[in-house]
Formats: sequence, structure tokens, C-alpha cells
Amino acid sequence: MSLIQLQGISRVYGSGKTAVHALRSADLRIEKGTFVAIYGASGSGKSTMLNMLGLLDEPTAGSYWLEGRNVANLSDKERSYIRCRKVGIIFQSFNLFPHFSILENVCMPMRFAGLERKEMLARAAELLDRLGLGSRLKHSPSQLSGGQCQRVAIARALANNPAVILGDEPTGNLDEKTGDEMIGIFHELVAEGRTVVMVTHNAEYEKEVQRVIELHDGTVVRQ
Ligand SMILES: Nc1ncnc2c1ncn2[C@@H]1O[C@H](COP(=O)(O)OP(=O)(O)OP(=O)(O)O)[C@@H](O)[C@H]1O
Ligand SMILES: [Mg+2]
Repeated sequence: MSLIQLQGISRVYGSGKTAVHALRSADLRIEKGTFVAIYGASGSGKSTMLNMLGLLDEPTAGSYWLEGRNVANLSDKERSYIRCRKVGIIFQSFNLFPHFSILENVCMPMRFAGLERKEMLARAAELLDRLGLGSRLKHSPSQLSGGQCQRVAIARALANNPAVILGDEPTGNLDEKTGDEMIGIFHELVAEGRTVVMVTHNAEYEKEVQRVIELHDGTVVRQ
């Protein structure tokens, strides 16, 4: 059983003459424990695909099997429940809550999952410590560099021990060296048996990953 299997996934925005076919019957399989990069021109459907994988969006047609369960057409409540526990998502612009400490930011997904406060504070501190931010727990995101913010976002993505970590251009706002540090962290996660899927425009990362997927106009042209 693959960790992820997409079958005939389509996503149409709008309808009629103005309809945009962001994904056109895309098929994809991702095995557990792999590091995957998704490439494609701007507008080819990469973010749409990632949002689909991250259960932030629903397909117009097709099925999405995550750990053997079809999650393509769940209720909003079921989708949030699974998203919170099964996926960790990282964005180009970090998407941290600016008015909360980084410790509180990392606690957020665990709060949704209903963890006890003591337990989530301990786990958040442990994750941040692992990512080299153990001495910054009370700092707010604005007091940190971009690379540090992205490490907080990675800690937050790991909070509920998800099946897959997704990144939409996670190195897009970082300089080369800091971007390479993120790739190093992803390598560590994959070595632990985790699955990482990242959208990127950086051709240098092709040699870093185990699998390259390329989208063209909403279809998978290389995998
Ligand atoms: N909410 C939306 N409403 C209408 N069209 C959308 C919406 N989101 C995306 N699209 C369209 O779907 C297509 C795919 O967009 P998507 O954001 O997935 O591309 P992308 O490959 O991530 O591009 P980029 O590299 O620029 O981030 C584009 O034509 C885009 O304009
Ligand atoms: Mg995009």
C-alpha cells in the first residue's frame, strides 16, 4: 500500500467559460519514507496539488487514498480532523502567528488535537530544541530570522507526528545557505522514515531528492 495515491484528480476553479482546470485527471503515488520534489512552470498546478495532498482543498473529481483511506470527499469536520493529525504543512512565507511566542505557535496543532497543556508544552519545547531554537522559546516570530522562522514552521508541522510533511516552496524566501539547511533538516526527517513532499523551483534540489515529479498544465508528466 502506498502512503499516498491520487487517481484521476481534477480541480476546476470556477465554471463555464471562465473555468480554470488547475489539475486534470492527475495520477500520483508516493511511498512512505521518500523525499519528493514537485517541479513545474508557474501556474502548472503545484500549489493546487499540494493543497490537495494537505487536505486544504477538495478535488472536483477523482480519489485520494491516504494510508489506504479515501479522503477525497470528506465533510469539513472529518477533513480537518485528518489534516490536523496526518499532515504537516510548511509555506514559503512561514505563516506563523505573529502575536504568539514560537512555543505557542508549535503548540497550536496539538491544541486542535486536544492534547493536555503540560504534554504539548513539553513536546513543543522538545521539537524547538531539536531544531536549534531551545533558547528562544518565548520569542515571537518577528524576533527571529527567516531561516529560524522556517524551523519553527517545521517544528509546528511535526507537532502531531504526521504521516507526511508538505512544503510549498519552503525555501522560496530563504537565501541559498539557509535553504540548504532546510534541505538538510528534510533529509534527517526522511532518514527517520518520514515522508517529505516539497514544491520547488530550485533545480539544484533535484539531486537531493529521491523522486522528482513534474507537472505540466495540471497533469503529471514525469514521476
Ligand atoms: N482560487 C483560485 N481561483 C481561480 N483560479 C485559481 C485559484 N488558485 C489557482 N488558480 C489557477 O489554477 C492554476 C494553477 O495554480 P497553482 O497556484 O496551483 O500554480 P503553481 O504551479 O503553484 O504556480 P506558482 O509556481 O506560480 O506558484 C493557475 O492557472 C491559477 O491561476
Ligand atoms: Mg504555487
